[in-house]
Amino acid sequence: MTDPDIQTLFDRIAPVYDRLNQDLSWGLHRVWKQMTVKWADPQPGDRALDVCCGSGDLAFLLAKRIGEKGQIIGLDFSPQQLAIAWEKASTTIPSPPIQWVEGNAANLPFPDRHFDCGTMGYGLRNVPDIPRTLKELHRVLKLGGKFAILDFHRPALPILQAFQQWYLDNIVVPAAERFALKAEYEYIFPSLERFPLSTEQVKLGKAAGFKTAVHYPISGGMMGVLVLEK
Ligand SMILES: C[S@@+](CC[C@H](N)C(=O)[O-])C[C@H]1O[C@@H](n2cnc3c(N)ncnc32)[C@H](O)[C@@H]1O
Repeated sequence: MTDPDIQTLFDRIAPVYDRLNQDLSWGLHRVWKQMTVKWADPQPGDRALDVCCGSGDLAFLLAKRIGEKGQIIGLDFSPQQLAIAWEKASTTIPSPPIQWVEGNAANLPFPDRHFDCGTMGYGLRNVPDIPRTLKELHRVLKLGGKFAILDFHRPALPILQAFQQWYLDNIVVPAAERFALKAEYEYIFPSLERFPLSTEQVKLGKAAGFKTAVHYPISGGMMGVLVLEK
């Protein structure tokens, strides 16, 4: 899929994205996102970036840790997802110091070494050029900063692989079909099959210039967080 196809896909699912995430992960996505933010190691007063922010969950968690003296930018190329993130922020009191920016992860509109830390949730699997995107993350990060990247992952155990595919085919896709979004959610499994495994992700992180790259499997390896330090 090309960038415009993916952008249209995420625009279409925006109105039900949060609800489906919550229901289909049994609320576990909140735990995985908390873990991701912890690995990014944000400090009070930091400037942080959440790439592919969608409706903004990771940006809100970053804001909680960073506090009002810091700055958080949520970047996404889907205007509909950003509208939901903006709406959520505008009804949060006190309003978190988050700015929502429309842009492409492969061409970030920020100067070099601008951010202390960053996150990306379920975004890397969707970008057409992973090496280029990782180089962009590396470019905008300060020396010593960390990016934590959460995404689906294919587990090593055959029984868990079978369960993952069964869950996507029999629970996730039918749930999305109720909202006329079958094709949009059918896209998850092939995107996951194409997505590099943990060892390859580590190699790609190092090739992008990061000093260290570690992949932490979570939920039996069905999800994972790639932690990159510059
Ligand atoms: C599955 S959603 C994840 C949203 C959020 N990070 C979360 O974890 O709930 C993926 C998001 O990545 C965005 N996205 C995909 N490719 C992108 C790209 N090349 N540049 C910017 N955003 C992108 C989509 O618009 C979508 O909002």
